[in-house]
Amino acid sequence: MNQNWKEQLYEPMGELLSVHNIGYDEELISIQDVNLHYTGQAGKKITALENINFNIYRGEFICVIGPSGCGKSTLLKILAGFIKPSTGKVELDGKKIEGVDWHRGVVFQNPPLYEWLTVRKNISFGPKMRGIPKAEYEELTDQYLEKVGLTEFADKRIYELSGGMKQRVSIARTLINDPEVLLMDEPFGALDALTRENVQDMTRKIWWDTNKTILFITHDVEEALLLGSRVIVLSKHPGRVIEDIPVNFSRRIIEENAKDIKFTEEFYKYRERLLRRIHEQTA
Ligand SMILES: Nc1ncnc2c1ncn2[C@@H]1O[C@H](COP(=O)(O)OP(=O)(O)O)[C@@H](O)[C@H]1O
Ligand SMILES: [Mg+2]
Repeated sequence: MNQNWKEQLYEPMGELLSVHNIGYDEELISIQDVNLHYTGQAGKKITALENINFNIYRGEFICVIGPSGCGKSTLLKILAGFIKPSTGKVELDGKKIEGVDWHRGVVFQNPPLYEWLTVRKNISFGPKMRGIPKAEYEELTDQYLEKVGLTEFADKRIYELSGGMKQRVSIARTLINDPEVLLMDEPFGALDALTRENVQDMTRKIWWDTNKTILFITHDVEEALLLGSRVIVLSKHPGRVIEDIPVNFSRRIIEENAKDIKFTEEFYKYRERLLRRIHEQTA
């Protein structure tokens, strides 16, 4: 581990921190000189993202935070292939990201599920559509039902579920396609505190057990610190990367069963630094 990174963390703010995230060496996605302009009312140019440059390494759990309207969802939409950068390029495994495909799975705050179908049918939908034989996708569905803790609810219909359960379905339905990267846009933003903690714990465990690469957008600093292996902060509109730091609370929660880590001084320091960084932006 880079000896200096913790000291660097407490250096005066103002400069961009970017420290190599030790242990993650295999580049998966590269984002180079990306700018994104929308056309607003009366043809006015709106710059949503400005000069974004960073790589995503296989197995990282990147949390992106930043004030509302700073371009977080725009960044995710570019990675998903929903929209193209105005300039710059985005590549996955050295290939330009063009259009939507199941190699990049997306989980939204309000998951688009088939309300009238059962949990099981929603989860098996992807592999079924891709022509995977029935016995195989049924077996896979059982595995993913278990991973997200929904085995007992397999035959319930979506409209019968709570918000937290719907998010579990959405995550299983995405993961079953074995995407290279899981893109999550404030997935737990609408859930109550307790449910939220449960799905956070589940997401962390899935990340740990499957080594999936995750890019997770949140406006909640604590959530970012409790889940991520790296936290990226975007400036207020137009979004630029103003902070990029490795964190290990999530790993320690798993490896050391450090359930109370969020009450430690170290955690407060990170939290304070990131909060200050965001508040500077909104002041
Ligand atoms: N389709 C669009 N047309 C014009 N402006 C947009 C569009 N989508 C987003 N924007 C603007 O781009 C900026 C970034 O939006 P967004 O990525 O949704 O931010 P965030 O997810 O961080 O809240 C905002 O100022 C928003 O108003
Ligand atoms: Mg958003």
